[in-house]
Amino acid sequence: MKMAMKKLEGKVAIITGGASGIGEETARVFADHGARAVVIADIQDEQGHRVAESIGPNCSYVHCDVADEDQVKDMVESTVQIHGQLDIMFSNAGIGSDSDQTLLDLDFSEFDRIFAVNVRGMAACVKQAARVMVERRVRGCIVCTASVSGSKGGKKWTDYCMSKHAVIGLVRSASRQLGEHGIRVNSVSPFFVATPMNCKKLEKEVEEAEKIFEPFMNLKGILLKVKHVADAVLFLASDDSAFISGHDLVVDGGLLSAASWS
Ligand SMILES: NC(=O)c1ccc[n+]([C@@H]2O[C@H](COP(=O)([O-])OP(=O)(O)OC[C@H]3O[C@@H](n4cnc5c(N)ncnc54)[C@H](O)[C@@H]3O)[C@@H](O)[C@H]2O)c1
Repeated sequence: MKMAMKKLEGKVAIITGGASGIGEETARVFADHGARAVVIADIQDEQGHRVAESIGPNCSYVHCDVADEDQVKDMVESTVQIHGQLDIMFSNAGIGSDSDQTLLDLDFSEFDRIFAVNVRGMAACVKQAARVMVERRVRGCIVCTASVSGSKGGKKWTDYCMSKHAVIGLVRSASRQLGEHGIRVNSVSPFFVATPMNCKKLEKEVEEAEKIFEPFMNLKGILLKVKHVADAVLFLASDDSAFISGHDLVVDGGLLSAASWS
C-alpha cells in the first residue's frame, strides 16, 4: 500500500481481539502504517494465525485469553522479549450479551461472563502493558475499545452497558495515574458495526445487519465500517494525538449528541 506518511514507523503494538472485526482491521491499518511488529492476541487460534499470515511477516498471532491475567502477563512479556519493546496496547477484545435481558431479569452468571472479559480482561491488559512501559520508560499509548453503550443507559443489554461504562472509568483513572510516566490512555467508542460479533447475534449477513441499523444512524449517506473505527484507533495510537489522554473518541456519526436513540 502506498502511503504519504506512515504514522507508526518502528512501533511495536499488541491488539487483543485482533483475529476478527475491529481488531483485525486495526491490525491491517497498523501494519500499513509501518508498525515494526503487530501482535494479535486472541482465543480464535486458527483464524488469528490466518489473519496474521495474510497481513505479512510483521504480524504474528499469540493465544491469550484476556480474562486470565497470567496469560496477559505472559503475552505482554513475550512480546517485549521477542520485539524488544512495547509502544502500543490496543485492548479491544470484548464480548456482547447473549440475551436481551433487562435489569428485572438480570442473570448474574451471564453478567460475570461479560465482566470477566470486558472489564477484568480490559483492566489486565492496561495494567500489564503499563507495567512494562513504566519499567522500560516508554512513553507508550494505550487505547481501549469502549462503546456508545459506555455513555448512555440502554433499554436492554444491561450487563454489556455496565461493562462499557466500566471501561471508560478505567481509561479515565489510568490516564490520570499514568500521565506522570508520559503514557497516554484513551478509548474509542463505536456505534453499531456489522462485525462477526453482531452478525452472529442477529443471525444476519453483513449487508442485512447494516440495513437493520441504518435507520438508527444519525449521519446519513454513509455506513459505519470497521475501517472508520480502525482509523480512529490509529489517530489515538499515533503522534497525531500527542497531547490527547483520558479521552473517549466516539465514532457514531453524531448519535450521542442527538436528542434520543434506542
Ligand atoms: N461491533 C460493534 O458494533 C461494536 C460497537 C461498540 C463496541 N464494540 C466493541 O468492539 C470490540 C471488538 O468487537 P467486534 O465487534 O470487532 O467483535 P468480534 O467478535 O468480531 O471481535 C472480537 C474479538 O475478540 C476476541 N475475544 C473474545 N473474548 C476474548 C478473550 N477472552 N480473550 C481474547 N480475545 C477474545 C474474539 O475471539 C474476537 O476475535 C469489543 O470490545 C466490542 O465490545 C463493538
